[in-house]
Amino acid sequence: MKLLVTGGAGFIGSAFVRLVLKEHPRFRVVNLDKLTYAGNLENLAEVAESPKYRFVKGDIADGEAVEKLFAQEKPDAVVHFAAESHVDRSILSPEPVVRTNFHGTFCLLEAARRNGAGRFLHVSTDEVYGSLEEPREADENYPLNPSSPYSASKAGSDLLALSYHTTYKLPVTVTRASNNYGPFQFPEKLIPLMISNALENKPLPIYGDGRQVRDWLFVEDHCRALLAVLENGRSGQIYNIGGSLALPNREVVERILEATDKPATLMTTVTDRPGHDRRYALSSAKLQRETGWAPLVSFEEGLPLTVRWYRDNSDWVRRVKSGEYQQYYERNYANR
Ligand code: NAD
Ligand code: TYD
Repeated sequence: MKLLVTGGAGFIGSAFVRLVLKEHPRFRVVNLDKLTYAGNLENLAEVAESPKYRFVKGDIADGEAVEKLFAQEKPDAVVHFAAESHVDRSILSPEPVVRTNFHGTFCLLEAARRNGAGRFLHVSTDEVYGSLEEPREADENYPLNPSSPYSASKAGSDLLALSYHTTYKLPVTVTRASNNYGPFQFPEKLIPLMISNALENKPLPIYGDGRQVRDWLFVEDHCRALLAVLENGRSGQIYNIGGSLALPNREVVERILEATDKPATLMTTVTDRPGHDRRYALSSAKLQRETGWAPLVSFEEGLPLTVRWYRDNSDWVRRVKSGEYQQYYERNYANR
């Protein structure tokens, strides 16, 4: 079975490619990735020489190139990760977010429709449901209420993907996962940013009161859920994928300080993010019922494992933090 994976050089995509090639000998993978600031072929070093793997550098929003690749590779299934994935960057520069997340998804759907992909798994996020009041949990029928250009572009692409199922009978399935964490995550998101800053004795910038709640999912648990959906999920359906634990940001940061053995004085409060969602919470009951999936890695195991990975891979961190990252950091944090 040949999978076309988009965004396979990013955090979750690379974890998925490594897992598939390690544990599922019946899959071959073609990885289409533009290698933006977030794409890194180092994340795929362990599979680079595999005869079952091919890397193609390209832009999902380039319709002609995408069409050519589909015609050439004739994938049995598409697993679509490629995106501009960060809320803060989407606030600073929304244009590439809309282009990649919405128009890029459109180009892939069109190519899949014309070339007849057997399955189209669109990887999305719980952020499309927006901020939920305690004690609500979003199931798959919960109304969409995205707050940021990032989450709005994902909500739009979810609807477009589902319309290809309704209109053209393309076998589309949408998944919506909560906040992922784990090795190889670009240090712009909360957990890897706080870990790497703590390890370098730099301030840990908490937005606003730090009481915003996120549900945390270990990246490998997410990838196993995607495989379960690929094998047993139904076309035209949406599946939520939630983690093991919902926590306020401040508590996550305190746990990171504990795991890195650093003082609480590193925590600093900075101006809140505009349009900041207070709370995400979702139910994965449908996925659990239909596929038997459940998260295997608790936060108590996953966080120290992740801290260890960042400690042991300081060269990777140094390389990804050089160049463009410094400008982004300055732009996002200097005046708040
Ligand atoms: P990431 O930012 O780490 O990686 C994104 C990858 O997509 C990079 O390799 C990048 O080079 C590639 N890419 C970006 N624009 C592209 C384009 N135009 N053409 C081809 N490739 C392009 O992202 P991630 O955290 O691994 O997220 C992957 C997917 O999972 C995204 O669709 C995201 O919305 C979704 N998701 C992420 C989380 C999370 O917590 N990170 C949670 C739920 C869902
Ligand atoms: P993030 O990892 O950017 O994911 P998302 O916004 O998609 O949920 O942020 C997670 C939470 O952490 C969010 O409530 C914003 C907060 N946060 C900070 O307080 N400080 C930071 O430096 C970052 C990056 C995030």
